[in-house]
Amino acid sequence: MTDTLRAAWDAHAADYARVFAPVTGFIAQNMFRMTAARLPAQSRILDVACGAGELTIAAALHARSMDNAPSAHGTIWATDFSAEMIALTEQAVAAHGVAEFVRCEVHDGQQLALADETFDAVFSSFGIFLFPDRQAGWREAARVLRPGGMFVTSVWRDPEHNALARQQMAPLLASLPPRLLDLPPRPDWIGLLSAEGLMADVCGAAPFVDPEISVISATLVVPHPFAMWDAMQGNPVTNRLLVGCTADELADVARAVVAHFEALAGGAHRPLLLDASAHVLVARRG
Ligand SMILES: C[S@@+](CC[C@H](N)C(=O)[O-])C[C@H]1O[C@@H](n2cnc3c(N)ncnc32)[C@H](O)[C@@H]1O
Repeated sequence: MTDTLRAAWDAHAADYARVFAPVTGFIAQNMFRMTAARLPAQSRILDVACGAGELTIAAALHARSMDNAPSAHGTIWATDFSAEMIALTEQAVAAHGVAEFVRCEVHDGQQLALADETFDAVFSSFGIFLFPDRQAGWREAARVLRPGGMFVTSVWRDPEHNALARQQMAPLLASLPPRLLDLPPRPDWIGLLSAEGLMADVCGAAPFVDPEISVISATLVVPHPFAMWDAMQGNPVTNRLLVGCTADELADVARAVVAHFEALAGGAHRPLLLDASAHVLVARRG
């Protein structure tokens, strides 16, 4: 499954960076800023499932602003299992002039090829919760953290509090053929969308203590409704629901989803705005 998923994220990387990273990146950068004051001087930081590198850039700019000495081993390790995502992060790092602070490497976050107790902080913005074996992801994050080190991760809130999820899922669930709604393997992260569920999952799987939850919200702006449908088709999270459709079924779903988005946007050529809201969990390695 990992190879198929990796290929799907590789194929989606450029669209993800263009359409979704502006909103996840806003949240990632703010989750770094809200915890930066807790980092020790000269921190070693790991970004798990870094995507196009938004959190890594915030961390590297912080390291530079603190006059941290660049380390030959890298102060911030940006990791993702998608080589295309890592290539985007490398470009972003170079464009911000912070390459001396960052080491970019391909790693599966369920099995990091990194030594125990290496990092002062591990971040994962909308990453580990999507892994097929997310418990392995939480455990690996804890393993590579030094005792007392900080773990920070973001996960979407439930559809009731998160229009981005609600407005994508409502027309999909209403228009998909019923046989596709219950196909295994279902992502089993619905329980994580509450603050209590997220804390229980992370602290139950790995030796994390003192969990705290905050909310960060942002608005996704897409130039027009069809652009959102186009991005949803390539996004591995929503594409999982679409792959079993016949061509006719997919055309029906497309019509329903685009019509829903056009009603929200007020027309086919108007920008679509979707409010998104996430929980940010901060915990300590016990
Ligand atoms: C929703 S994106 C989040 C990217 C970025 N952190 C952000 O906030 O925009 C999920 C990322 O997880 C990566 N990913 C998925 N499964 C992974 C795994 N097993 N190991 C490492 N990265 C993985 C994908 O390649 C993708 O970059």
